[in-house]
Amino acid sequence: MSPPEYMPPGENDVRSPCPAINALANHGILPRSGKDFTMSRLIDALRKGFNLGTALATWLAFWAFLFYGKFFRTMSLSDLHVHGILEHDASLSRQDDAIGDHIKVDKDLVDLILSQKIDGKINTESLAKLSKIRQADSKERNKDFNFGWKQKTLAFGEYSLFLHTIGGATNKEVDAKVVEILFKEERIPDDWKMPETPVELFKVLRYQKDIEKKYEELNHE
Ligand code: HEM
Repeated sequence: MSPPEYMPPGENDVRSPCPAINALANHGILPRSGKDFTMSRLIDALRKGFNLGTALATWLAFWAFLFYGKFFRTMSLSDLHVHGILEHDASLSRQDDAIGDHIKVDKDLVDLILSQKIDGKINTESLAKLSKIRQADSKERNKDFNFGWKQKTLAFGEYSLFLHTIGGATNKEVDAKVVEILFKEERIPDDWKMPETPVELFKVLRYQKDIEKKYEELNHE
């Protein structure tokens, strides 16, 4: 089933540094305004939009609402702008907060992601390499660069979630065209296939370690 109609954000709509959540708002699966949604609305959107399992959707939404002090309240995508809570340096598609726009996509950085495709796909190896490239670049240009244990855990968690969800109908790889559309337009591609079975929390957490292993292996190559 194809998602509801895609509409880019209007002047008063707000978006976040997360391409996936923004896509949910651009398709109206989250409010198109990006504003004032409840935790259960976010859980529902993650399940409907990307076929996340209930445990995974609840786990993500719970931590987000807790971290941003929004428990029992509503959240807006602009709440996710704050640097240092979930938003971190050396993102794949955004500049660091200290040196550029850390919210909006940088299309040249998306081209950098695409330059690491292997057989037309972005996979674990591409992401492990990209993390190294992005960290080296940030270290050079950002005197406030911060990428410790917390940031690394968040980044590898995002990659794992991405490969399981967006690459859900495949063997943890995402077609380069899908990456381009999701990151540059924050749109769910028409021919994208949703994971057939709900994405499970423990699989995403376990795979995070596999990405870390691949990343460590690159140090020895
Ligand atoms: C299926 C669900 C999700 C997927 C596939 C996903 C995917 C991603 C990816 C791939 C990135 C990295 C972007 C980059 O490095 O340029 C990212 C970043 C981010 N995500 Fe998500 N995400 C999901 C759900 C969420 C949720 C539920 C939240 C919180 C409500 C969230 C908040 C963020 C934030 C704040 C960032 C920015 C981190 C940074 O500084 O790079 N994401 N997400």
